[in-house]
Amino acid sequence: MSLPSEKNLSALLDERRTFPPAEEFRRRANWNDPAIYDRAAKDPEGFWAEEAKHLDWFAPWQKVLEWDAPWAKWFVGAKLNVTYNCVDRHAHSARRNKAAIVWEGEPGDSRVLTFDMLEREVNRFANTLKSLGVVKGDRIAIYMGMVPELAIAMLACAKIGAAHSVVFGGFSAEALRERINDAKAKVLITADGSWRRGNVVPLKASADEALTETPSIEKVVVLKRIGKAVQISMKPGRDLWWHDLVANASDECAAEPMDAEDMLFILYTSGTTGKPKGIVHTTAGYLVGASTTHRYVFDIKEDDVYWCTADIGWVTGHTYIVYGPLANGATVLMYEGTPDVPDRGRFWAIVDKYGVNILYTAPTAIRTFMRWGKEWPAKYKLSSLRLIGTVGEPINPEAWMWYHETIGHQRCPIVDTWWQTETGCAMISPLPGITATKPGSATRPLPGIAAEVVDAEGKPVGPGGGGYLVLSKPWPAMLRTIYGDPERYVQNYWSRYPGKYFTGDGCKIDADGYLWLLGRVDDVMNVAGHRISTFEVESAMVDHASVAEAAVIGKTHEVKGQAISAFVTLKEGVHASDALKEELKQHVVMKIGAIAKPDDIFFTSELPKTRSAKIMRRLLRDIAEGRVLGDTTTLADSTVLAKLKEQYKDEG
Ligand code: WTA
Repeated sequence: MSLPSEKNLSALLDERRTFPPAEEFRRRANWNDPAIYDRAAKDPEGFWAEEAKHLDWFAPWQKVLEWDAPWAKWFVGAKLNVTYNCVDRHAHSARRNKAAIVWEGEPGDSRVLTFDMLEREVNRFANTLKSLGVVKGDRIAIYMGMVPELAIAMLACAKIGAAHSVVFGGFSAEALRERINDAKAKVLITADGSWRRGNVVPLKASADEALTETPSIEKVVVLKRIGKAVQISMKPGRDLWWHDLVANASDECAAEPMDAEDMLFILYTSGTTGKPKGIVHTTAGYLVGASTTHRYVFDIKEDDVYWCTADIGWVTGHTYIVYGPLANGATVLMYEGTPDVPDRGRFWAIVDKYGVNILYTAPTAIRTFMRWGKEWPAKYKLSSLRLIGTVGEPINPEAWMWYHETIGHQRCPIVDTWWQTETGCAMISPLPGITATKPGSATRPLPGIAAEVVDAEGKPVGPGGGGYLVLSKPWPAMLRTIYGDPERYVQNYWSRYPGKYFTGDGCKIDADGYLWLLGRVDDVMNVAGHRISTFEVESAMVDHASVAEAAVIGKTHEVKGQAISAFVTLKEGVHASDALKEELKQHVVMKIGAIAKPDDIFFTSELPKTRSAKIMRRLLRDIAEGRVLGDTTTLADSTVLAKLKEQYKDEG
């Protein structure tokens, strides 16, 4: 494990530009008193308990936190229901006819669901799930595109106490099967397909393929999203149409009182081994974390239209499209399509069409927009925007400045939010009414969050230093375990520095105490904001009959942050060719999904290894990025590397 060497750290820490909140913004902000940081640091439990009062509880907690490291229980003994908090209570208030979900679909569809309408839809589907035999504690897999029914399905699960496991619609049949089996899901909710750039993504066909070996699945609910443009088959006795089921379901359904620590959902993410980890989030702590951070980081106001461009298949969509905003009674925009259909001005057209006030997107998207040119956003007013945010990967100062000037018109504070699937909600971020931002820095831990940068021995580093980011106190929305694998939870996150959560990210602190995230220090890649493990892609490659061995690295990429590069040795007698490269890429798409498709594949006769036969990916990264090779003393055979370097220069 090493800190990323490719970054120009000193240049980063030299960033002098600061952007304090505008006075007008500061005055109206949900939080504008810097004393909140100290108050929360002195009494984090009291702080979280205070914020928890924004939710409706069926029964109070006896204790805010029970911490037996690394096992946390928050709001011990309390009872509540997440969907009641996100939907019902608003539907029975002055927000009844307020837009909850504003949906912009492809091609040309749109739909608005008020809180009242959302409540009825959720209830119908919750009753449907009950009629299929779903009971509290069951796991339900969801494999859909970005349609309102995806949020409805999640909220219906939460209403009756079933845990959902949403699988991103871009994942392959195999990836879906693996996740269904790990969670032993009872029901799969999917659609006939989803739209992507005018083409149909055949979700049901992939689901059918996944379902050949999923003994736990009893029923499949299929939403008709596409209709005639896709051919699907329905298996009698197993597959049921969403619209048939809800047609007869009652729109009334009481919310199941859940224990604070009951599981709300599982979400799979990549770790440093081939097998994805099922991150477990529970009811009370997660909702407190999601709603509190949404309220303050995004400074949400009653009349705001808030848009997070993530897919709900990732944690950003869970927390900041569904649970955080809806718990706060906010109007959420949900977009089914891509930024370049029908043209490259799509996002800006949507901002103007709906008067979006808050936009939350990813650095990869921003860098893509930069490449497309200022002329696209320049065609639109963007005057409704008042706050803009980013998430998913470090944002380089150039992209930050471009976002600030071209999208924010120098008027909107930028919140660069650092967090993870495991953390459940934002951990490090500016508070827009308090923090003076610096381009490229996520600034400081939020109130109630304790983060430190430590060296290899776990000693905190001082200003100007760099090391590993750890979270040194429990927080409400933290993961509780890895589904079915508590040892891996302990091992992965809590064994390197006892009592502290290891994030896997490198980080620097500047003289003002601002944090500068440097990317992963483990074998996890971040490709266009998506977490993909090198081992996952390697396993997919060696699964191909022609491949003997594969080493995969994330190579620095101007737009995507990292791109996947694979170094492959072929089996005896297999002929290297461009056609084979293409075949291997497709093989990875088939095994995992298009997000994991390697950008380039490089055939080699040998891979650089240590004497204990570990592949030295670090050196491969040096080669791929054309750098002077790092420390090679542990190599078993240094000629392998020299040969590889020569060959890469010729072909790479
Ligand atoms: C990276 C996404 C720098 C980081 C919410 C982390 C970031 C991983 C930022 C988690 C940011 C996320 N600045 N890096 N603002 N946000 N990351 O689980 O490496 O998909 O560990 O959660 O993304 O990715 P995940």
